[in-house]
Amino acid sequence: MNNFEFKNPTKIIFGKGTIEKLAKEIPNDAKVLLLYGGGSIKKNGIYDQVKTALGILDVVEFGGIPANPEYAVLMKALKVIKAENITYLLAVGGGSVIDGTKFLSSAALFKGDAPWDILTKNIRTEKGMPFGTVLTLPATGSEMNSGAVITREETKEKLAMGGPGLFPEFSILDPQVIASIPERQLANGLTDAFTHVLEQYMTYPIGALLQDRFAESILQTLIEVAPKVLADPTDYKAAANFMWSCTMALNGLIQKGVPSDWAVHAMGHELTALFGIDHARTLAVIAPSHYKFNFDAKKEKLAQYAERVWNITQGSTDDKAYAAIEKTEAFFNQLGIDTKLSDYTKDYDGTAEEIAKRFADRGWLGLGEHQSLTPEKVEKIVKMAY
Ligand code: NZQ
Ligand code: ZN
Repeated sequence: MNNFEFKNPTKIIFGKGTIEKLAKEIPNDAKVLLLYGGGSIKKNGIYDQVKTALGILDVVEFGGIPANPEYAVLMKALKVIKAENITYLLAVGGGSVIDGTKFLSSAALFKGDAPWDILTKNIRTEKGMPFGTVLTLPATGSEMNSGAVITREETKEKLAMGGPGLFPEFSILDPQVIASIPERQLANGLTDAFTHVLEQYMTYPIGALLQDRFAESILQTLIEVAPKVLADPTDYKAAANFMWSCTMALNGLIQKGVPSDWAVHAMGHELTALFGIDHARTLAVIAPSHYKFNFDAKKEKLAQYAERVWNITQGSTDDKAYAAIEKTEAFFNQLGIDTKLSDYTKDYDGTAEEIAKRFADRGWLGLGEHQSLTPEKVEKIVKMAY
């Protein structure tokens, strides 16, 4: 096991009816900016619950943060933060609203001229404006981690940022919010969380027995609850397990002391930037090709995953490892998620070359757990995913 340090300061408030605890978590003298997305919270009652819970706190609102939070929109919110002397941010939404809020937390205290530099120059946020979240969509784990991904339509870029200053102070997780989530987003959430675990697990054995079993248990739980959540999003037991699995998949715990990959996400983000494909779906497009292309480097963990998660006990290591890739793709398909780029766009010619070029231009010359995934290999993997 590798050496590691672990600190996650986010307070989780989990369970039925927990939104009413909101005001206790925010300082009484705060001037709060309530941030939300395209308006789903106004239809499903979450907005009303939040407003009631905020009580007498001084609150300004900013709605309209789109899925794949857009830089230009966030820059409008930044103006509000400055003009209104905001001191505390509250995100009410899914990964996009939370990530947008993290960007604002960082940008609000940023000393430079162009906050886009935070993303392009990899500036770590050591301290941001304090913020909390009310999660409305289990998927990204953003409610308990310090990362964010921001999109810029103008340049067709989607870039990551982070730092120890970007953990939410608290996150409220009431699984009842799942009742109103459309099937497409439920499937996305399941796929995203599943792939988060794979990115931190599907590398090579390093003797981290507990981390492996944490990861496998999250995958098993997602597989078990997926059909229940899709069939009936008001099933509280399934919803609670789904929500907590998504948070645990990317709050840092399972990544400690083990190698991690994250190349599926790096390639996937480009497909969202270029074609607007939902984040989770880009992962389902890339992952099977990525695991086939890097088969030799990953086959021991693939075979372990085959045995422990999919109960595939027959055959050689290679047989089991290959069967596990097929099981993974079939799982995504069962959720209603297509796994080829051509299922989403007919305009895919040249995509692999474009992504490889972008990675080379950014100096991303060796991704993955061995830092050996070159832009040439990226090009081949993306082509396999056409
Ligand atoms: O905009 P609103 O009206 O809120 O509607 C949203 C949006 O249309 C809707 N929705 C959310 N909660 C709902 C609901 N509809 C009905 N009832 C509810 N309770 O769902 C749609 C999608 O929301 P979004 O926030 O975009 O989804 P998700 O949580 O999947 O977030 C995706 C974003 O997170 C980034 C992705 O790249 C993408 O930009 N990620 C962030 C990560 C992180 N910070 O750690 C890691 C991930 O790998 C990912 O990259
Ligand atoms: Zn993801």
